[in-house]
Amino acid sequence: MQIQVVDHPLVAHKLSILRDAQTPSSTFRQLVDELVTLLAYEATRDVPTTEVEVTTPITTTVGRKIADPAPVVVPILRAGLGMLDGMMKLLPTAEVGFLGMKRDEDTLDVVTYANRLPQDLNGRKCFIVDPMLATGHTMIAASNYLLDRGATDVTGVCLLGAPEGLRAVESEIGSRADVKIVIGAVDERLNEHGYIVPGLGDAGDRLYGVVD
Ligand code: URA
Repeated sequence: MQIQVVDHPLVAHKLSILRDAQTPSSTFRQLVDELVTLLAYEATRDVPTTEVEVTTPITTTVGRKIADPAPVVVPILRAGLGMLDGMMKLLPTAEVGFLGMKRDEDTLDVVTYANRLPQDLNGRKCFIVDPMLATGHTMIAASNYLLDRGATDVTGVCLLGAPEGLRAVESEIGSRADVKIVIGAVDERLNEHGYIVPGLGDAGDRLYGVVD
């Protein structure tokens, strides 16, 4: 498994504002959007392209466009929705699949409540977008759904992670596929409730408010 921590002053600056408990949801959403474009820039570095002829005002030349079939972006509901627009700004031709997943707060296991993915992901470059890679259970389950549908090229795009979660993804998925993780920072650890420390709290609540 390849893990790329995007070590960049703008990422560190924006993440620090996200971490601040006083940052309001409106600013939080804006910063997540900006951060995603920085992470997506790295995550899309090897997206396949094909040659295309372009007529400029001066002459014709050969340019490149993103190859078919179009990449697939899969936000994990609810918090991954906050990252979708940023991804689509950089990949406007991508298709979007949805996975609704939440964790059982007692067992920390993943419960899937929605699954709308393209049937055949063979040859499609897939991006799973989920802000927090905590226990890794969601990333493991989401990767397995995509791999089961024939995907071979899966990249997770996350804002923050914990070492425990990254190790879990490596041990559960590593032998099945070469999944790549592009992430803004890897924090110290998980606490006893499965939250990332120091982290930023519940990303879904910070983006959209608390749901009982
Ligand atoms: N999910 C979150 O939103 N935050 C965490 O710290 C862990 C999981």
